Amino acid sequence: MIYRLLRKILFKVDAERIHSIMHTIGAFLSSYQIVWRTAAFFYRRYMPSLRSTVAGITFESPVGLAAGFDKPGELIDMMYGLDFGFTEVGTVTPRPQAGNPQPRLFRLQQDRAILNRMGFNNDGVERFVSALKKRKSPIIVGGNIGKNKDTDVSIAEIDYRACAQAIAPFVDYITINVSSPNTPGLRSLQNATELRRIIVAVMDQVHTSKRRLPVFLKIAPDITDELLRDILHVVNETHCNGLIVSNTTISREGLHTDVADVRALGDGGISGAPVHARAVQLVSRCYRLTNGALPIIGVGGIFTADDAYELICAGASLVQLYTGLIYEGPSVAYRINRGLDRLLRRDGFTSITQAVGSSYKNSVQ
Ligand SMILES: Cc1cc2nc3c(=O)[nH]c(=O)nc-3n(C[C@H](O)[C@H](O)[C@H](O)COP(=O)(O)O)c2cc1C
Repeated sequence: MIYRLLRKILFKVDAERIHSIMHTIGAFLSSYQIVWRTAAFFYRRYMPSLRSTVAGITFESPVGLAAGFDKPGELIDMMYGLDFGFTEVGTVTPRPQAGNPQPRLFRLQQDRAILNRMGFNNDGVERFVSALKKRKSPIIVGGNIGKNKDTDVSIAEIDYRACAQAIAPFVDYITINVSSPNTPGLRSLQNATELRRIIVAVMDQVHTSKRRLPVFLKIAPDITDELLRDILHVVNETHCNGLIVSNTTISREGLHTDVADVRALGDGGISGAPVHARAVQLVSRCYRLTNGALPIIGVGGIFTADDAYELICAGASLVQLYTGLIYEGPSVAYRINRGLDRLLRRDGFTSITQAVGSSYKNSVQ
């Protein structure tokens, strides 16, 4: 309610400007234990039904913050205070880069969506690691890695390996991001040959480090059935530990915002409500094609517990959100966690793991 009022004011300011102001405030608050511990005291409640072990990691809640919101890894402890079960920081690239020219972040309010073409703006992996070292809370942290814009796609694995090497001691899992639409050629890395090279390089790096971290692959929603089969084949072959489904979409189909207005904003990926149905469908396809054997993190258009539950029943063991935090405010994870607990009880489940893929299981019974 309070956030709904505040949102009216926040949404009057340029989207990137307000994000940067809120990030600065959040990072300042996150650096004080008293602040995030107090938030945790009010927000965090241990709910046994939401606890699960995925890819060898135990999560107290299946609701995580998606990559891109906290690119530099400065809000980690605050996310613990706000009742997130995990947070994914990055995307980080080996060297700092400015990203695409501004403006590059827009709200599509009629669609409860965001259009962005940020282009992996970040301070590079060295600064990123310094931020990770400051983390104090016990929240699970994923590190999302990418390649620099000026690294040729033919040698992209060098960038992914370098990032994996630098962050491995400080994160709980690694995400290979080959699915952002805003770095030229990046999505071509989802093709089997390139993908195999990158996953092998990262897995190899992870195996040489002391911690055996799970590695997830984040995929785009705009892929053909054939490409999905190829991706799953490579994932299986390389023993990659799971999928994150999905990144933003380049499709402009089904939007309520005026077509000419959307066109005037230019290129970029759309997140929020318009990607939800696609994400559910893709999670469901991945779950079916792998017989539920591969852990899936479902992302796309989660605003409520019902949205999260739909992805879980389609086959996601965990979920993440970004746009939902912008539209629903800082209590979004708290409300989703409580809502999920209620939905599980309504359906006679005692644990979130029983709900994972239940739509599929019911359909084959
Ligand atoms: C402004 C913005 C920046 C993003 N940056 C990244 C990124 O750096 N790396 C990444 O893997 N995903 C990035 N994403 C995608 C999100 O992690 C998520 O996959 C997508 O937004 C769908 O989830 P949502 O509908 O809950 O926002 C970004 C999304 C937005 C809106």
